[in-house]
Amino acid sequence: MKKILVTYDMFREGFAELESKYEVTFPDGRDFTYEEVFEMIPEYDVLCSMFDFPVNKELIDHAPKLQMVANYAVGYNNIDVAYAVEKGIVVSNTPGPVTAPTADIALGLILDTARRITECDRKLRTLGKEMKVGVLENLGMPITGQTLGIVGMGRIGKALAKRARACGMEVVYHNRRQLCIEDETKLGVTYVSFEDLLAQSDFVSLNAPYTPETYHIIDESALKRMKPTAILINTGRGPLVDEHALVKALQEGIIYGAGLDVFEFGDYPLPELLGMDNVVLTPHIGTQITATRIEMARAVSDNVIGFLEGDRPVSRVLKP
Ligand code: GLV
Repeated sequence: MKKILVTYDMFREGFAELESKYEVTFPDGRDFTYEEVFEMIPEYDVLCSMFDFPVNKELIDHAPKLQMVANYAVGYNNIDVAYAVEKGIVVSNTPGPVTAPTADIALGLILDTARRITECDRKLRTLGKEMKVGVLENLGMPITGQTLGIVGMGRIGKALAKRARACGMEVVYHNRRQLCIEDETKLGVTYVSFEDLLAQSDFVSLNAPYTPETYHIIDESALKRMKPTAILINTGRGPLVDEHALVKALQEGIIYGAGLDVFEFGDYPLPELLGMDNVVLTPHIGTQITATRIEMARAVSDNVIGFLEGDRPVSRVLKP
């Protein structure tokens, strides 16, 4: 019987079918460490990894039976895909269930940063009656009629574009490939160069995968091209943004604010960001919904069963 190793603690109902068919090993109430997985992997045929678990050359070379890496995420920058593919290992991801919740968080961060929702909440709680209130206090920005620039027009970018259009925003986008005219018309979006997107947008949302090409796509020079009133939203991956350059740009008023669900250096933002009222920070909660967690587990399970039995489609990643 094929042996499947899951590196992370997860609601089991999404894995019920997989568990009924194969020998599946889960950690108990916590995630397995890299060292634990490294020790166990020689016995396993399939590895189900979380988006922050490194599936690197060293691990792959230590896994003589490994046929598949099924990632629990749409992103797969944690996996050395080129090496896995070279070794004949199939890699899969879970784009379906991730799309709407991530687009929702991006829209939430747009609204929150523009209207200073979290900032006002925090001030009311911490300052109480010392908080300055009144019709000329706590003024924010509109979103209706403003321009949203979406960097990366894949599934999440498109889902965000629909939400933004429904809120009356203009949407421009930049992507490796321009959409066909029918899709652009249907979504109501306009393709522009990356430079024009930075210059025109009131909000810039990063929805591109993290690859060597997109590393620090927002760096000091990109920030300088943005409007001084602009807000940067990142729900993709932290290293898309040079976080030190972002801190400086916010301190110097190069841009107005930021809404970040992901950070460059792991789970937490640079400490300077914690003290800024014009920044909203969330700890990678893009897909943090119970139903989504279960759907993503089901998507992982379907990918593995589809690969082993050929009875359903596999969301296969072919290139880094
Ligand atoms: C979440 O970050 C994902 O890549 O699915």
